[in-house]
Amino acid sequence: MGAQETPRAVVGAPARTRRPASAANGKLTVAVTGPTGQIGRPFMAALERTPQVERVIGMARRPFDPTRHGWKKVEYRQGDILDLDALDALIAGADVVVQTGPTGS
Ligand SMILES: NC(=O)c1ccc[n+]([C@@H]2O[C@H](COP(=O)([O-])OP(=O)(O)OC[C@H]3O[C@@H](n4cnc5c(N)ncnc54)[C@H](OP(=O)(O)O)[C@@H]3O)[C@@H](O)[C@H]2O)c1
Repeated sequence: MGAQETPRAVVGAPARTRRPASAANGKLTVAVTGPTGQIGRPFMAALERTPQVERVIGMARRPFDPTRHGWKKVEYRQGDILDLDALDALIAGADVVVQTGPTGS
């Protein structure tokens, strides 16, 4: 994928992660786009219930409070996936990146 292209769908290990997959305890950090959407919310809830997942970082544009859903592993960042700096910051240190947000046309 070229630097100018918008990612359509990403499920897998990010190419620019700064550390190898999995934390020392073997549990995963998962970065998720579109965490507040129809697909994203139940997916986040599933990650919250998954013992192998230690930390979840979600990013979308509008304000959102994960604690209102009782989610304890989830950190939320406001950002636009078209902002490559925000996207880089989201995936830095993640073991897995899941794109549930807009896929473009
Ligand atoms: N729901 C379905 O049944 C279904 C079926 C087939 C395919 N899809 C596809 O799956 C994707 C997600 O569907 P959905 O129903 O969950 O959509 P949705 O309910 O509209 O949720 C979209 C999510 O993406 C975020 N988002 C949108 N634009 C963004 C941007 N530029 N930067 C960062 N976050 C952004 C939204 O939050 P903010 O608006 O706050 O940014 C929200 O969290 C879409 O591409 C859709 O076409 C959905």
